[in-house]
Amino acid sequence: MGERIISASVPQTEEGLQYHIRCKPGDVARYVLLPGDPARVERISKYWDERRVIAFHRQYVTHTGRYKGAPISATSTGIGGPATAIAIEELLRVGANTFIRVGTTGAIRRDIGIGDLIISSAAVRLEGTSSQYVISGYPASASYEVILALIEAAESLGVRYHVGVTATTDSFYTGQGRPGFKGYFQGWMKNILSDLQSAGVLNFEMEASVIFTLAGIYGARAGAVCAAIANRVTDEFVEDEGVEDAIRVANEAVRILYEWDSLKSRLGKKYMYPSILLKH
Ligand code: URA
Repeated sequence: MGERIISASVPQTEEGLQYHIRCKPGDVARYVLLPGDPARVERISKYWDERRVIAFHRQYVTHTGRYKGAPISATSTGIGGPATAIAIEELLRVGANTFIRVGTTGAIRRDIGIGDLIISSAAVRLEGTSSQYVISGYPASASYEVILALIEAAESLGVRYHVGVTATTDSFYTGQGRPGFKGYFQGWMKNILSDLQSAGVLNFEMEASVIFTLAGIYGARAGAVCAAIANRVTDEFVEDEGVEDAIRVANEAVRILYEWDSLKSRLGKKYMYPSILLKH
């Protein structure tokens, strides 16, 4: 028999163990990397100085440790909005407040090479999960501090990266303009790629706007760095290209955020701004 859950509306045990991710307060760091793929958690934590396997339940695998002194966790979300929202809800309850998605993506601009990284500044909410939280006009925006830390990390590691707006969908196939089974097609699918391209959107993926929306409404911070494994303009697809770079950049961004947060707290400041760094 499993552990006793407090109630149907509060699905956690008395000690705070969350129903899906099977973590309790103290198990996860403030900074959490969020790959979709459970196998990627191990690839992330192999860079850390110390690590503990915390939990393994369904698609949710969590490791916690330290990377260059910074407390850090990684929890896999599985694919898509609903599973990702569950991870964010439960991670917030056990003490996380800064989230970085480490994913893969399909670029929709010709100049984005296979293996390049895309750092999302915001995400178009083409999924349904975030609409269960807030009206459609609410922005799915990444935190400026996380965006900056990701850029700083990408620069210091010398990897190719792009910064801009991402589109998050609920369907890898029809939602991203790929024909469904037996060529299934709808009129709107003809224009989805070109409409988003005209609006300057860089890429498709399936989780960022949910992470950004939930972080926004709950007062947490979020960002995303994804490896472009596909390019929908050049019609290339190379599995795993750039993923190791995305992992290195995300780990390094946590170290940077930890340094910035320590500096802010020493100076009694709530927000990071450029002259703090120039002066200290
Ligand atoms: N992930 C997506 O959501 N789309 C792609 O094309 C590649 C990865």
